[in-house]
Order: sequence, then C-alpha cells, then structure tokens
Amino acid sequence: MEPIITIKNLNFSYPDGHRALIDVNLEIKKGEIFGIIGPTGAGKSTLLQHLNGILQGDGDVFVDNIKIEKKSEKTIREKVGIVFQNPDDQLFCPTVYEDIAFGLFNLGLKPEEVDQKITAILEKMNLSHLKDLSSHHLSFGEKKRVALATTLVMNPQVIALDEPFANLDYKSVLNIIEMIKNLSLTRVIISQDILLALSICDRIALLDKGKIIRVASPIEIAADKDTLSQTGLDFHPYVDMIKRFIDK
Ligand SMILES: Nc1ncnc2c1ncn2[C@@H]1O[C@H](COP(=O)(O)OP(=O)(O)OP(=O)(O)O)[C@@H](O)[C@H]1O
Ligand SMILES: [Mg+2]
Repeated sequence: MEPIITIKNLNFSYPDGHRALIDVNLEIKKGEIFGIIGPTGAGKSTLLQHLNGILQGDGDVFVDNIKIEKKSEKTIREKVGIVFQNPDDQLFCPTVYEDIAFGLFNLGLKPEEVDQKITAILEKMNLSHLKDLSSHHLSFGEKKRVALATTLVMNPQVIALDEPFANLDYKSVLNIIEMIKNLSLTRVIISQDILLALSICDRIALLDKGKIIRVASPIEIAADKDTLSQTGLDFHPYVDMIKRFIDK
C-alpha cells in the first residue's frame, strides 16, 4: 500500500529550547489505522500537529505527495483533519449545528449544501438529537463525538485523533472504537492506552523522548517486552489490577 504521509528527518524544538521531536522518520499508509503510542511527554501531540502543518519543524512532511509548507497549508488542512484531545479546543459556536457548519462555510459551500452534509453526518454518527443543543452543555463523551463530526464532515483523506479514548467510560470507548473502525479513510491514533491501541491499530509507532524507537504490528509490539518496559508502557492499570486480584 502506498504512503499517504511521509515524514523525513523531522526535528522540532519548542521556543524554550526543549527538543520535542528528534530525527523522526515515518510512513503512514493509505487506509490504515496507525497508532502512535508513548509515555507522557514523549512528543505524541507535537508529532500529530505536524501532520497538518499546525506546527512546522525542520525536515519534510509530505501528505499525498504534497510537501507541507506555507503555500500548501490550505490544501493540507483539507486533506488532514485533526481531532484534539480536549473537545473544548474544537467547539466554540453556540450550537452543535453551527460548530459542524463552521468549516463547511469556510470552504464556501452554500447553506443548502452545508445543511445536507450536516444532516448526513449527524445521522451517520447517531448525533441528530444533539443538533440544536449548545456544545458546551454536552457530556464529555458527546463533545468528543461532535468534535469528531466537525472533522469528518470536511471529508478529509486522513483523520488524526489525539487520545480519542481518554476520560471516557468504557461504553463510550467502545462507541468511539466502533466509529473509528467503520471509517474507510486513513486514521492516525495517538494513545497512552497500549491495550486499546494494540486492539485497534494495523501498525504502531513507539515514541519515547521525541524519538521513534520502533514501528511494527500490534503483535510484534506486544511481544517486545524490553522496549515496552524501557518506555514504561508495559504497565497497564487494568492488567495490574487483574494480576493483583488473581494474586490474592
Ligand atoms: N508549548 C510548549 N513549550 C515548551 N515545551 C512544550 C510545549 N508543549 C509541549 N512541550 C514539551 O514537549 C514535550 C512533548 O510534549 P507533547 O505534548 O507532544 O507530549 P505527549 O507525548 O503528547 O504527552 P501526553 O501523553 O502527556 O499528552 C514535553 O516534554 C512537553 O513538556
Ligand atoms: Mg499529548
């Protein structure tokens, strides 16, 4: 399968000098579910923001063979949609409808076309009942799904989700997993939750201290005990709890 995203020798430092990404090289293939996992502070969110040019470090990032640079920013943002970890960073209009409409109006679509697209995405995602509500009055899980809808309605080629499972109850996690699995576009998922990442991704990159230390299938990653313990990712609260329960 050909790559849709290619990252070459990417380095990024924040203004205070912190080196958040060090010599990152990566290929994400068309249509796959690609996971980026790593401990807190590894650089996952920083890397994600390089996928559509929000951040631009030293090195090259190509999307669909187009290099991300100032002049390609608009095209790239249409190709790659990012869903932030905190939905409040994405929802700022008085109603759900207006939040989803915002990007579509920016594309210059007519109100009838905007309306059609919103109705379709709300139906597809079982969110029609929230249409006229204020985004700020929704539950966290509902906000997460609306934030996903605002990105999907733009029909991107790649959707990149920052911690889509964080702070959700188990049923909402399963709901989001189902939604992600049913999409046919390329999906990039950042997660600290190794079990969920292993269960949903086709391939996984392990990121630690700004460096990619391994890219492999979930089975290979799960078997790589040394690398997982080196990054602290061999610990999972559920697994630990089950072990303690069995040991009693
Ligand atoms: N605006 C900033 N200025 C300076 N340093 C920053 C800034 N944002 C992030 N960092 C630092 O860069 C490193 C990578 O941060 P990033 O948010 O990408 O990590 P992460 O892997 O997403 O972590 P988490 O799992 O906690 O979300 C961290 O050490 C962080 O403190
Ligand atoms: Mg993060």
